Amino acid sequence: MATAIIPRMTKKTVFITGASRGIGRAVVERFLEDGFQVAMGARSLDVLKEIEKANPEMSKAWHLDVSDRAEVDKVVSEAAAHFGSLDCIVNNAGVGGRTAIEDVTDEEWRNLMSVNLDGPMYVTRAALPHIPSGGQIINVSSVLGKVGSTLTSPYCASKFGLIGFTKALALEFAPRGIQVNAVCPGWVDTEMTESGIVREAANLGIKESTLRMKLAMDVPQRRFLEAAEIANFIAFLATPGAKGITGQALSICGGLTPS
Ligand SMILES: NC(=O)c1ccc[n+]([C@@H]2O[C@H](COP(=O)([O-])OP(=O)(O)OC[C@H]3O[C@@H](n4cnc5c(N)ncnc54)[C@H](OP(=O)(O)O)[C@@H]3O)[C@@H](O)[C@H]2O)c1
Repeated sequence: MATAIIPRMTKKTVFITGASRGIGRAVVERFLEDGFQVAMGARSLDVLKEIEKANPEMSKAWHLDVSDRAEVDKVVSEAAAHFGSLDCIVNNAGVGGRTAIEDVTDEEWRNLMSVNLDGPMYVTRAALPHIPSGGQIINVSSVLGKVGSTLTSPYCASKFGLIGFTKALALEFAPRGIQVNAVCPGWVDTEMTESGIVREAANLGIKESTLRMKLAMDVPQRRFLEAAEIANFIAFLATPGAKGITGQALSICGGLTPS
């Protein structure tokens, strides 16, 4: 006899930063498929409004610059009031950069730190009162949060920092039943990767396609990952089956790093 299939996760809410494109957009789509209510933040509000329009019951969009503490506090409290609680936070918003340290301006350093490191702290601090036991915080770091790479010292510093933040918070909130993990992607086919390749190929005086091929060939799986693969991994971490995972920095990188 056939029985009704009850969705595994309903009426739970995920709050996603950097939701307008790339990995964040894929995370939005995956959580909507899983039956979550989705609170989305990014600076491109028009893009988010389109998603909200297509999923009016299940999603809501906010303009959000994660480096603006006052805006983070306002948006997080409005999202919690709108949906009732925030079961999962995905701190995904981030910016890249590739500059020799002697050329890094104070402004560039501050911008990168404020988006990649201050942002997750502001969002987490504001969201914690609204995260119930059984909730999760998932921080999108990078394989460059685990290994160094030339000309990326500000980015590496921010992503190593995010892993440290993750590990300390996981211990602080384990007694409250809240898991905190970092996801560390390798090369992912997004606008961030594409714009980096365009800039670097011009610097090196080679074709973009040549550089892209070289970078892909350095990955043991010989490919860049799709944003949807990172979203699937994040979605798994938000399931009850992943309850025992906390304080971890988990790579998803086609074998690029050994751990
Ligand atoms: N692509 C990769 O190969 C790769 C590898 C490892 C880790 N990562 C990490 O994965 C995350 C997503 O990267 P991606 O590749 O998807 O990059 P992306 O395509 O450039 O997208 C970045 C997202 O972050 C948002 N964002 C940027 N600055 C923001 C700010 N100040 N406030 C709020 N949102 C902001 C952007 O939206 P708006 O412009 O609309 O604000 C956009 O939605 C980042 O943390 C990145 O460091 C990426």
